Amino acid sequence: MTYLQEPPKLSESEVSYSVQEYYGLEGTLHPLPGDRDQNFLLKSPEGQKHVVKVSSLDEVQEILEFETEMITRLSNDTNGLIPSVIPAISGTSLVTHENEQGHHYQLRILEFLPGTLLAEINPRSDALLMNLGERMAELGSVLGAYPDHPPPRINFEWALGQAGNIMEKSLSVLDSPRRALIELTLKDFRDNEREFLGLGSQIIHGDVNDHNVLVSLNEENHARISGIIDLGDAHSAPRVFDLAIAIAYGILGTADPLLAASEITRGYYAEQPLLEIEINVLLTLVCARLGQSVCIASLRRHHGDTDPYHLISEADAWKTLSLLAAIPRQISSGTLRQACGLEACSQSAQLRKWLVSEDFKDVIAVPENPNALGILDLSISSPELTGRDSDDTADFSNRVFQKMRSDGLTLGIGRFMEPRGFYLADEFEGRSGDPLERRTIHLGIDVFQEPGTEIHAPLAGRVHTVRDNKNRLDYGPTVILEHSAPSGLFWTLYGHLEKASVENLKTGDSIDAGQPIARIGTYPENGDWPPHLHFQIITDLMGFEGNFPGVAVPRDRTVWESFCPDPNLILNLPLETTYEEPSGLYERRKRVLSPNLSLSYETPVHIVRGKGSYLFDVLGRSYLDCVNNIAHVGHEHPHVVAAGQQQMGVLNTNSRYLHGAIIEYAERLSKLFPEPLSVCLFVNSGSEANELALRMARTYTGGTGIAVLEGGYHGNTRGLIDVSHYKFAGSGGHAPPSWTRTALVPDEFRGRYRRDDPSRATLYAADVGEAFRQLDSEGHHPAAFLSESLLSCAGQIEPPQGYLTAAYEHARAAGALCIADEVQVGFGRLGSHMWGFETQGALPDIVTLGKPMGNGHPIGAVVTTREIAEAFDNGMEFFSSFGGNPVSTVIAIAVLDILKDEKLQDNAMTVGAALKTGLDTLMRSHGCIGDVRGRGLFLGVEFVNSREALAPAPDIAHYVVEHLKKRGILLGSDGPDHNVIKIKPPMSFSGSDADRVINELDQVLVHDFVHDRSLIQPKD
Ligand SMILES: Cc1ncc(COP(=O)(O)O)c(C=O)c1O
Repeated sequence: MTYLQEPPKLSESEVSYSVQEYYGLEGTLHPLPGDRDQNFLLKSPEGQKHVVKVSSLDEVQEILEFETEMITRLSNDTNGLIPSVIPAISGTSLVTHENEQGHHYQLRILEFLPGTLLAEINPRSDALLMNLGERMAELGSVLGAYPDHPPPRINFEWALGQAGNIMEKSLSVLDSPRRALIELTLKDFRDNEREFLGLGSQIIHGDVNDHNVLVSLNEENHARISGIIDLGDAHSAPRVFDLAIAIAYGILGTADPLLAASEITRGYYAEQPLLEIEINVLLTLVCARLGQSVCIASLRRHHGDTDPYHLISEADAWKTLSLLAAIPRQISSGTLRQACGLEACSQSAQLRKWLVSEDFKDVIAVPENPNALGILDLSISSPELTGRDSDDTADFSNRVFQKMRSDGLTLGIGRFMEPRGFYLADEFEGRSGDPLERRTIHLGIDVFQEPGTEIHAPLAGRVHTVRDNKNRLDYGPTVILEHSAPSGLFWTLYGHLEKASVENLKTGDSIDAGQPIARIGTYPENGDWPPHLHFQIITDLMGFEGNFPGVAVPRDRTVWESFCPDPNLILNLPLETTYEEPSGLYERRKRVLSPNLSLSYETPVHIVRGKGSYLFDVLGRSYLDCVNNIAHVGHEHPHVVAAGQQQMGVLNTNSRYLHGAIIEYAERLSKLFPEPLSVCLFVNSGSEANELALRMARTYTGGTGIAVLEGGYHGNTRGLIDVSHYKFAGSGGHAPPSWTRTALVPDEFRGRYRRDDPSRATLYAADVGEAFRQLDSEGHHPAAFLSESLLSCAGQIEPPQGYLTAAYEHARAAGALCIADEVQVGFGRLGSHMWGFETQGALPDIVTLGKPMGNGHPIGAVVTTREIAEAFDNGMEFFSSFGGNPVSTVIAIAVLDILKDEKLQDNAMTVGAALKTGLDTLMRSHGCIGDVRGRGLFLGVEFVNSREALAPAPDIAHYVVEHLKKRGILLGSDGPDHNVIKIKPPMSFSGSDADRVINELDQVLVHDFVHDRSLIQPKD
């Protein structure tokens, strides 16, 4: 068979006629794609379905007969995984038909298997991929039991064994980057050919590509492999070829092809153990199949073929091939070995055992006093030695050596397998620039000592390389020594050396145990790091020359750990030199914290660090924070941190003494409000601010009645739950007290009055008046109308223009005060204005503040008029132990400084507008987005099941939140129906952050769960 052969082109009427003539079947024909056969779906008037396959007579009769017989057997032996053959009236499975022009065709009819092609499943979950492996093992074992006598095939370019020839043939038609990739793949294939051709043969399917695999929902509603079709390529070959082919297509389009490959392999191995040699050649074969596929497509195109089915997987296959090629083969193969329960590096166990049994010379003299040797915590969560928040090596070095001095250390140790946050250069990017995982996991041990300290060879060997790895944040001058062990050769690496100290070393020099080989270098010549030695053991150089990765991405860490055994096996330091990831937090938390303190996400994230708009987990993975409006000016803003740290060291006491900070802050804060809002009271939280505001309103008015809005949340105290409809009407809630009345939420998308109603603002506002009328009539004299200016928990709702002024008029007419809860939306978040009430041209009597005020430090405030404040001063003292203390107020001052200096309100306006435009564009292409609303960096995306019925779709919101988290973006859902995604990131959120959110959201919204809801379960 050649890549140029076309499927037959029998007319539909003729196929229809033959089907009836030979099979007695009737129905309508629908063309199906086919590589060599002409295929149709035959639908009978009763709804029965069959697949009609027309092969040209060029297909060797013997092969078709063999294939048909095998399908019949397999269908029985695999429990229907393979569709059965429908016999013709004559009893044969294969019919030869001659058309009017005297051409001959072969006709077969197969059972139609329902399901969706694997190629159309998006995303392919780990469980589904693992199931593909399981089914391949099942198929392989059934095929393995058949006598191996398929007829020989001539020029069969799709046989995986032919991949080398195909790749060779196509080199001349490829452009140079692609040619280089194919040359690499080809070399790998040729280098390993003897290995895999030496494996025994059996019948294999030969083409389990993603268009030949069907997926259906099982009884538990999980997507699982339900059928494998098209045995047209069955031939005799090693069984691992079939697994490799299934992997090559199974991983197409997945986020991480290597991890996808490891799931398929895991599934296969669980059903049918593979030989170590089969596992070792698997990736060579996977890449060869990808190479073969893209080369056949290139050749076809070169010969003028433009049939999309023939070129179908080409772009994805190129991408997957280059992603796999970028990972050292030892690491990718090691990942598959681990999936089969083997150690990633085959020599490691033996080497480790030998290292344990040997004595080594000190690499650096270890102090006699055990207390002079200690661990320096360089992990991502380290509070002291976080390193490169800035580019200042001198500062980083000072901190490290200062810490050593203060702890009395002469030798400081940086740990093996430690996740670190300071590898910021481009070289430390994760797989193909993956923003979630950079290379953070340290594969060596660092020994911090003064520059000039001598370094000795721990054991005899020879110099493998001496090289100055000059790129900034690389190793600088580096020596790699080669050693022998019973397990074979291994290497030790010494990085960050003094250049002059290694000038006399040459490749090939033999080295004695204990011989001085170099000295610790200083910055910047050592790669621009604090002076230290990076020491690492390497079992396989993986083709690296003079350099070797010293850090790995978190997902590969156990594989790298196998290739780079614990350096302390040689250093023998009497310390715990390996970083241990904290475990058991979830269980501990459950034991000691209240169960109704919920955790976000199905698999909680363990966040240990923040910076700007980003949060980092315990392994250094980075998450774009789109939901934390508390970190208003950015997580751990250095100016805020410094202000708090400095004031903590000077004074922190209550507000009963004269102190400048509280006064300065009150002056600056009150200046941000329109007159007559000019008096401040400080507390510690938004809840306390609202509690205080309600007390003030009740004191001022003498009333008790409070009107609030549906969906509102104002705080966690008993008194505030009673006015928070979001809580009292939600699960676990209870009827509110008689002095609370709830007015309609001014939701112009799904509320009572919608955008098409020009009177909606007045109608919604009138409901506030109605609430007070009812309160009054029941003896609760109106005290306050408490509402957010834009509503957060209610679902990121911006009331129609004119609403707030009209609602305030109703409240005031009833004798109530107007309290604006600005806890979520205040401090410039809305871009256009500093406060939410200003966006409506309204003026409240009392404003409550919290969350963003201290950028995470607990401080809240009430801002009101002098008249109300004086009325509140009725003889009862107001005091809050912590409210307005010097530390809190200097922090709050720093927040105001940063807001102004970094023009964050303007940023909220421009970035927010771009983000909203992007979301609007998504709304046009994704029907599940019902509404995009909000302003500045306070936006909401509401999901509905259909734009017509507007039924809320909380499952989509949940799915989107979970899947964006997997892609490193943190969001949350809100609203009474939990179907609104809230977007309220730190105000440092950038234009490129916004682009990333749009881009990733766009990709998740085409997932089957959102797009074709009939198909896939959410949790899979
Ligand atoms: C609008 C609003 N008001 C008040 C509060 C209560 O603030 P805190 O949690 O600081 O007590 C919250 C908290 O989420 C809120 O969203």
